[in-house]
Amino acid sequence: MITAMDTKLPRLITALPGPNARRVVESDTKFMSPSYTRDYPLVAKRGYGAIVEDVDGNAFLDFAAGIAVCSTGHCHPKVVAAIQKQAAELIHMSGTDFYYESMPQLAEKLVNTLPGAPKKAFFTNSGAEAVEGAIKLARYATKRDKMIAFYGCFHGRTMGALSLTASKTTQRKGFGALLSGVEHIPFPYSYRCAHGHTAETCGAEILEVLEQQIFKRLFDPEEVAGIIIEPIQGEGGYVVAPNFFLQELQRICRKHGIMLIADEVQSGMGRTGKWWAHQFSGIEPDIVCSAKGIASGMPLGAFFAPASIMNWKPGSHGTTFGGNPVCIASALATTELIETEYMENARRVGDYLLNRLSDWTQKFKIVGEVRGRGLMIGIEIVRDQRTKERAPDLRNIIVDAAFHKGLCILGAGENTVRLSPPLLIDEEQADFAANTLEACIREAESKL
Ligand SMILES: Cc1ncc(COP(=O)(O)O)c(C=O)c1O
Repeated sequence: MITAMDTKLPRLITALPGPNARRVVESDTKFMSPSYTRDYPLVAKRGYGAIVEDVDGNAFLDFAAGIAVCSTGHCHPKVVAAIQKQAAELIHMSGTDFYYESMPQLAEKLVNTLPGAPKKAFFTNSGAEAVEGAIKLARYATKRDKMIAFYGCFHGRTMGALSLTASKTTQRKGFGALLSGVEHIPFPYSYRCAHGHTAETCGAEILEVLEQQIFKRLFDPEEVAGIIIEPIQGEGGYVVAPNFFLQELQRICRKHGIMLIADEVQSGMGRTGKWWAHQFSGIEPDIVCSAKGIASGMPLGAFFAPASIMNWKPGSHGTTFGGNPVCIASALATTELIETEYMENARRVGDYLLNRLSDWTQKFKIVGEVRGRGLMIGIEIVRDQRTKERAPDLRNIIVDAAFHKGLCILGAGENTVRLSPPLLIDEEQADFAANTLEACIREAESKL
C-alpha cells in the first residue's frame, strides 16, 4: 500500500469525504462536544513531513500544521525517537515538586534565543496556560492589576486569557463576567488603517489614544500591570504589527513600569524565519509566551521573563503536567531541528512563497492583501478591492475547494486565508500550494 511516507504532494484516491471519514465524522457528531470548529471533514490517520494521510488513504499537503504546531512536520524521525526514548525511561514525576535534568536544559536553550537580559522559564501545557501565567506574573511583579490588550488578538480560552482575547464574540459570548480591569485598544492593521498609514507607519493614533485617553480617563498607568500584544496577530488574520509601533509600545511600557508581554504562541519558534516575531522590531519584551510549534505537537507551552521579574516565591505558581519529560524531550529535538535547518528554511521558502503571491492583488479581484513573514502568511479575501468589504463566504469557498484538491489550509480572522505549513516545506510544495490556491481563488471569484 502506498502511504503518506512515499509522497510529498497530495494524492486523492476517494471522493471526499471517503467512507471511513464519513463513519468517523458521524461518530464524532454523536459523542463529541459541538463547540469544535471543523471547516471540512479531514480525518487524520498518519503524517510524515508536510503530508497528512486520512483514514481512506488520501494524502493531503498540510498547510495548517495542526494550527501552526507541527513545526518540524509530522512525526519527524528525530522527534519520534526522542519521544519514544523518553517514554521508555520516565513519563512523569511533576516538575513542580521534583527536578528533571532536561527541564533546565530546554530552558537554557530557549532563553538563549531571546534578546536582552538573561531570562528564566516556566513550562506549561498550552498557550492559554502560558498566557495565564504571564498575567499572574505581570500582576505579581508590578503589584498592579490592570491589563491592556488589542482588538483582534487571541490569547486563549481559559477565563484569564479569554478576558484578553478580543478576536470573535462567539469566543466570549455566554460565559459571563471575565477578569475586570481589562481594556482593549485597536491593533495597528495597516490594510484597514483609518488614517491611511502604511505598513510601516500605521498605529500612531492608537498610541495617542493609549496615552491621552486610556491613561488619563480610565486607568492611571501606575495601575497597569501589563500590555499584551501578538507581534503578528494569528487568529485575528495574520496581521503584522509595524516595527515602530512595537518600539513605541515598549517605550511607553518602560516609562510607566508596565510589563510588555509578547504573545508569540503562534508567531514564535522560528515560523517567521527568526526565533520570535518581535525580533524584527528589535524590542525586548518583559515577558514572552510560547507554545504551539515548541514541541512539534506534544502539549507544551512556556513563558519567559528576566530573573528580576520572575522572582516569585515557591508555591506562588505551579502545574502538575507542564514541562512533562516526554514533551520536553520532543521540544529539545524540535529546537535543535529549528536551529539547524528549519528556521532558515522558513525564511527562505517563506520569501519564495510570498514572492510567488506578490502579484495576487493585481491578478485577482478578491485578494485584498497578501502579508506575513516567513511561513506565516495571510491572504485577505474581499468582495471589492476598492471598498475592502470583507468576504468570509468567498474565503470559506477557497478553504473548502483547497481541501477537495488535496491542500489543507485554515481560515484566520473573518476573511483571511492562513498559510502556516510545517517549517520544512520545499519550493515544489510551495508551488503546489500556490497553484492550487490560484485555482481555488478563481473558483471563488466566479461566484462573485
Ligand atoms: C497567539 C495565541 N495565544 C494563545 C493561544 C492559546 O493557545 P492554546 O490553544 O494552546 O491554549 C493561541 C491559540 O491559537 C494563540 O494563537
